[in-house]
Amino acid sequence: MNVLVVGSGGREHALAWKSRYSEVVDQVFVAPGNAGTASDEGLKNISINAEDIESLLEFAKNESIDLTIVGPEGPLVAGIVDRFSEEGLKCFGPTARAAQLEGSKTFAKDFLADNQIPTAAYRSFVDVHDALSYLDGIEFPVVVKADGLAAGKGVVIAETRHEAKKAVEDMLSSNRFGDAGSTVVIEEFLEGEEVSYICIVDGENILPMATSQDHKAAYEGDMGPNTGGMGAYSPAAVVDERMHQVIMEQVMIPTVQGLRKMGIHYVGFLYAGLMIGKDGCPRVLEFNCRFGDPETQPIMMRLKSDLVLHCLAAIDGRLNREKAVWDDRPALGVVLASEGYPGSYKKGLVISGLDTQLSNSSSDESSGITGKLFHAGTDVQSGNIITAGGRVICSTALGGSLLEAQKAAYALAESVSWDGCWYRRDIGFKALGR
Ligand code: AMP
Ligand code: GLY
Repeated sequence: MNVLVVGSGGREHALAWKSRYSEVVDQVFVAPGNAGTASDEGLKNISINAEDIESLLEFAKNESIDLTIVGPEGPLVAGIVDRFSEEGLKCFGPTARAAQLEGSKTFAKDFLADNQIPTAAYRSFVDVHDALSYLDGIEFPVVVKADGLAAGKGVVIAETRHEAKKAVEDMLSSNRFGDAGSTVVIEEFLEGEEVSYICIVDGENILPMATSQDHKAAYEGDMGPNTGGMGAYSPAAVVDERMHQVIMEQVMIPTVQGLRKMGIHYVGFLYAGLMIGKDGCPRVLEFNCRFGDPETQPIMMRLKSDLVLHCLAAIDGRLNREKAVWDDRPALGVVLASEGYPGSYKKGLVISGLDTQLSNSSSDESSGITGKLFHAGTDVQSGNIITAGGRVICSTALGGSLLEAQKAAYALAESVSWDGCWYRRDIGFKALGR
């Protein structure tokens, strides 16, 4: 069977890499992919942009693609699954309507409130004066969010009224996020420990993936601006068996059922970003209609069962018969970034040291690999691998303990270099400090 993975990040490299080990897969195509998916055996890049739905559709028809797995939210929100389904093709992900759960924060917040799913108190505004006068009457910190997709950068945690007002003005008056910022959500600041709870959903049944935690802040100690994610590990120690039950009962099941009541049959990855409060209550920070990046990288290293069979079962509505099997060993991934990220950065710098992999054939029967450099913003030019984005590589490793996984991931990262390469040295610190 032929699989097409749509996207070009570290998440897509990990999804394509895992799909290649499926017992039913012959060939995995990645559109457009990166230098990592270009060089891995069994993967082939196709130069079609992830947003170019009509060209992807034509490719899928011509190459008899049996399953398309969509990585990023953009094409999902733009309706890639709707178009593929109209043409009778299997495309794993939610429809455009269902993807509103990520595509519009107002939609998500209203949905959470309507279904009594715990989340931060909030108000939405389209008028800048209304938003500013609301800020005059509340306590700080608060969180100001652009309504639409802003690549993780449309969220400002404002410690003071001044910062909150500036964020509102940037979004509503200066149009900093274009249409994505034409509505803002102002919400209560939640304290606690953040967890990524990602599931596969078939419209009714829910197959939880291993839990994970992500470091979103740019700098060590979880300081500095928000990024797409600077590193992640799995499992999240804070989600024990009881917490897993609570999350399923209070968040995931009511979400899938609430969508059904609206006539939305949600198929795809469903990612709840949760804040676990000191009171032991999980509250939803956001939904994503896709897998997390970089959470995918450590989670795929731990997945022993067949990702492609899980996705096909979800599309066919028989997820209740699937069981995900996990490597007991923790995995940890460190993101190697370009100088200047998450602000502006140079591209086109030659990367060295990418041929390192940790191999241990006795410990992992599916791949024999215990560490891997997943590519994100990379490209090939004149035979060299060059930087092509802000997050460039995710060095990911399994270990007998989280500490061992951390050591292995950093050892692997050390072999890689380019001008201005940097990474956080403390990925996993919260879990290791527990
Ligand atoms: P979002 O895109 O809504 O997930 O926000 C990005 C990040 O901002 C989250 O991963 C949290 O780290 C932080 N964040 C968002 N909303 C809140 C909140 N209400 N309280 C505290 N932190 C938040
Ligand atoms: N790592 C966070 C996200 O994928 O949204």
